[in-house]
Amino acid sequence: MSVINSALPISLPVAEELLITYGFPLYVYQGEILRHSIAQISLSIPYSSTKFHFATVTNGNIQLLRIFLAAGWGLHANSPGDIYLGLKAGFAPGEIVYSGSNLNWEEMQQLLRWGIGKVNFDSLAQLSLFCQIYQGEKEVFSGPKLGLRLNLPEVTGASRIGVGPEEFSEAVKIAQSVGLKITGVHFYRGTGTNATQAFTQVIDSVINVCQLLPHWEYLDFGGGFGYPYHHQGIAFDWEIFGQELTEKLNRVERKIELIIEPGRAAIASCGTLLTQVVSVKWQGNKQIVGVDTTVANLSVPSVHGGYREIVTWKQGNYYPTDVCGNTTYSRDYLGKNCQLPALEIGDILAILAVGAYGYAMSSHFLHRPLPAEVLLEKNNHRLIRQREDYTVLWNNQL
Ligand SMILES: Cc1ncc(COP(=O)(O)O)c(C=O)c1O
Repeated sequence: MSVINSALPISLPVAEELLITYGFPLYVYQGEILRHSIAQISLSIPYSSTKFHFATVTNGNIQLLRIFLAAGWGLHANSPGDIYLGLKAGFAPGEIVYSGSNLNWEEMQQLLRWGIGKVNFDSLAQLSLFCQIYQGEKEVFSGPKLGLRLNLPEVTGASRIGVGPEEFSEAVKIAQSVGLKITGVHFYRGTGTNATQAFTQVIDSVINVCQLLPHWEYLDFGGGFGYPYHHQGIAFDWEIFGQELTEKLNRVERKIELIIEPGRAAIASCGTLLTQVVSVKWQGNKQIVGVDTTVANLSVPSVHGGYREIVTWKQGNYYPTDVCGNTTYSRDYLGKNCQLPALEIGDILAILAVGAYGYAMSSHFLHRPLPAEVLLEKNNHRLIRQREDYTVLWNNQL
């Protein structure tokens, strides 16, 4: 059961103006909220050699990426597409860190040719593939800094991704065979972790493993910092995390470069999905509200713990309400057991904190084209992605 509504990030007149201008449903990103969250995270880690890289897996809109760029952040890429968008947004290749999985020959070759700054490998096989390609092209393309994504089951639980510490010496040899060094370790705690201790408790273990690398220069500590989707939920404590990490890195004998690559923690809060009520019915004292968007316009519930805050400007007594999407998919609930006033067709609802894994995880399931995206800066707004129409459904069909 969700609780009574939290504050609305946009005033009703502005929401109405946006919807009249751009139509329903609509992703709205608020520049000031994003800048505020970037500034808060940036200030939280006093360690002197820290660089933040925005994890664009969460949101690939290049106008939003440019806000990170202007704030002095680099970009973190999970895939070649993430790199492509980062370059389009204007990030210098050297400011891009890649930590992905399972690239084929052509993709790995492209990675080298893009000239990005750091590549963290998921397996020795991927490292070998890179080195093979590098050997053939090293006269033309200088290689990135190389790192290993750490697989530490005793810390993060079983994961398909990463290289165990027992494989480090073999990795060093593979890199050496083409004249390269492994200088980095990438650690990813797991996404959406609000418990600060889940990070602070493992810093020592991670640093100990890093010392196994003879040429260790950088530590990339993720990714994975949670966002409290529930307004009464526990939030990840950046101050405590920053202090403990700084303290521990300052004790390391050599000067290590620290990379932090937050995704949702940075961008979730700035996004709101505006949607319109198209149907209301009652089942006993429960209100069943149909809206003109769908879970296919958003991420799957597992990404946000199954809960999103849905609010309205309308006042009145609250009723348990299911907010249902505009498809027949049996799981098309935007929200279950929300507390909302009695609604009418045409009322506007705001689905909060959809900036991360929202549009980025949307799909054309049930053949619904995707909403438009708008950037709101104070009361100025501009379209930053056009609404799709039905042509997207057959564009590439032959
Ligand atoms: C390597 C890596 N870094 C960063 C992120 C962003 O994670 P989050 O949004 O949980 O911060 C991800 C998400 O999948 C990731 O795989």
